[in-house]
Amino acid sequence: MEIRKNSIIRYVEYGSPTDIPEILSLSQMSREKAYAPYSRFKVGAAVKLDNGVSLPGNNQENAAYPSGLCAERVALFHAGAVYPDAHVLELAISIQANGELRNLDDLVSPCGACLQVIAETERRQNRAIRILIGGEKGYYIAEGVEQFLPFRFNARI
Ligand code: THU
Repeated sequence: MEIRKNSIIRYVEYGSPTDIPEILSLSQMSREKAYAPYSRFKVGAAVKLDNGVSLPGNNQENAAYPSGLCAERVALFHAGAVYPDAHVLELAISIQANGELRNLDDLVSPCGACLQVIAETERRQNRAIRILIGGEKGYYIAEGVEQFLPFRFNARI
């Protein structure tokens, strides 16, 4: 028996700067405030909630490296802390490395730990999260963590 799942992640080029989805703009603004003195790899994130509120996050590093946290989880936990009953509709991510916007010809996925947290957020709200990953010329868009993590761990609670 063969188990196969295919991923569908679309790439949309910006026609003009005004084409940038609002949640992606918020993630870009948030990226500038990242605290990344060790890696110099700044990541911004933002979540759009079903109550009309959007919240930012960004990576927060620490001299004790593993104590820091990725932008995606800062944004998701921010939402969980402030609006525990709201559903996350969209999660946007934007990346800047070495002072320059990363030219995303290649898709840069959220890390495995962030995908796991996205997976639990979806499970908790019983609803997939649209994930947008921004680049200089366009952005990737995926409907749900399923597109990155077709097989994943879930506890039965
Ligand atoms: N980082 C994120 O914020 N999100 C990701 O998806 C991958 C990595 C952060 C963690 C660390 O502060 C820096 O980028 C370099 O790994």
